[in-house]
Amino acid sequence: MITLDALAKRFQGPAGLVTAIDDVSLTIAEGEIFGVIGRSGAGKSTLLRAINLLERPDSGRVLVGGVDLMGLAPDALRLERRRIGMIFQHFNLLSRRSVFDNVALPLELAGLSKGEIRARVLPLLELVGLSDKAGQVPAKLSGGQKQRVGIARALAAEPKILLSDEATSALDPQTTRSILRLLKDINQRLGLTIVLITHEMSVVREICDRVAVMETGRIVELGSTFDVLTRPTHPLAREIARGLEPELKLDQLFGDRFSALPVPGGSTLLRVAFSGPHAESPVIAELVRRFNVDLNILSGTIDHIQGRPYGVMKVEVTGAVDPVIGHLKSLELGVEVLGYVRSALRTAL
Ligand SMILES: Nc1ncnc2c1ncn2[C@@H]1O[C@H](COP(=O)(O)OP(=O)(O)OP(=O)(O)O)[C@@H](O)[C@H]1O
Ligand SMILES: [Mg+2]
Repeated sequence: MITLDALAKRFQGPAGLVTAIDDVSLTIAEGEIFGVIGRSGAGKSTLLRAINLLERPDSGRVLVGGVDLMGLAPDALRLERRRIGMIFQHFNLLSRRSVFDNVALPLELAGLSKGEIRARVLPLLELVGLSDKAGQVPAKLSGGQKQRVGIARALAAEPKILLSDEATSALDPQTTRSILRLLKDINQRLGLTIVLITHEMSVVREICDRVAVMETGRIVELGSTFDVLTRPTHPLAREIARGLEPELKLDQLFGDRFSALPVPGGSTLLRVAFSGPHAESPVIAELVRRFNVDLNILSGTIDHIQGRPYGVMKVEVTGAVDPVIGHLKSLELGVEVLGYVRSALRTAL
């Protein structure tokens, strides 16, 4: 278990002191995949580096497996740090060393014998799918393969925790997915706790159990991935979560018929989020039957987040909209008015 207690860290910047972490308290459970998301400069890397004290906080406590890292002498801290592996966006591999020797490096530093090193490195290369690349130098590898070397190296000292700082940011979407699958696999097979920072919500959706949203050094939202993605409360969390939806430019779609305010005789644009007990009910067909309205579906997606269904639909409702909204809310669906559209007929007249 990782406990961060009232952490704070400030840096001297060119224009004065910058607060990178502002009173963050957080507990990460053993075996969890925990995501930290936020914009550039939010303090994500500083927070992650505080977990192994690569960045020493100005105040607060860092407990890893019950050990207060800030209170340790350098030698004891070095030993504790072996229990925490780390992977990076730019892989940080040594270019002159072979794949095998890159993975072996932390074990050489720890003073293991050649035989012990072989016995550790070969299964790791197998685990990350690089057994046939042991003798290659990193320059001969693809980005995804380089990151697999980074992961194998991070696992060499048999850590309990893996810290990942934007480990997939330099990779294309398909390679990203294969690396995320590998991380998930390691998490399940080895029971490893993973703390992962990213600025991509799609990464969070793919593998995180819980997620924290950071803004200017603070955690502004924290919850299960499902909750944060489907019911975000903080404006930034909402914005990031909505970024996963297909973009629908209403003013382009409807031109000057689009209006932010209600228009007499016009239609209403709704965003309906399907989660909870009625996520998969045939709600739309029922609305048309029960409320005698016209429904025009503008976009619709259905997704599974943490194995639970979640859909978002944007619809244009012509007719009395209030009973429709009331009904949707009674089903515990998320309803939001996106705007209004003047009737085409009226514009023509
Ligand atoms: N060593 C440093 N010296 C001075 N300022 C720093 C240092 N490290 C970080 N900062 C500042 O602290 C703030 C948080 O930086 P941090 O790198 O943690 O953000 P981040 O969320 O990881 O951003 P990104 O997504 O761009 O990696 C920023 O304002 C940054 O400029
Ligand atoms: Mg960073």
